[in-house]
Amino acid sequence: MHTTFQGKTPQAAHTAMRMAGNGPGEELSYHVAWLRVLSIWFQHAHWSTRGKTFYGDHLLFERIYNEITEEIDTLAEKAVALGGPHSVDTHSHSHLIAEMLRSYPSPSRADEATMIAATGLALVQDYITTIQETYDTLKAAGSLTMGLDDFLMALVSTLESHVYLLQQRVQQSIG
Ligand SMILES: [Fe+2]
Repeated sequence: MHTTFQGKTPQAAHTAMRMAGNGPGEELSYHVAWLRVLSIWFQHAHWSTRGKTFYGDHLLFERIYNEITEEIDTLAEKAVALGGPHSVDTHSHSHLIAEMLRSYPSPSRADEATMIAATGLALVQDYITTIQETYDTLKAAGSLTMGLDDFLMALVSTLESHVYLLQQRVQQSIG
């Protein structure tokens, strides 16, 4: 299933921002923004979904944004430990989060509920790809501590369960 995006993806939009700082603090700061984007997007999906599949979708999106929100504090504190308070600058983050959210269709504007689940699936898959890139970058730079390695692995494991649930939801409607 292909999801049509309105414009560029967050990765494309923010390559420049990632290049601006190449330390582990900047890299993790970018992930704090990503987790905020996922948390906000899925909470809005929770509120916006409708139709015959409403209740299941409403609960699924709630589960996803709750599980993602739980990860933000740990990641942000790791970012500060590596890059200082600048890694959690409200102005930088608010700008980045707004731009990233605009890179994906709003759940409130979807024609029907399955499109919301399909967009959410694409969002999570894009983020897993981004984590993989960060993992490789930090590992190559010798900046991947055991704790951070463990955190990123566990985060991907959580996100893979979201991919599974969203895939089941999308296939239910098209299969
Ligand atoms: Fe709610």
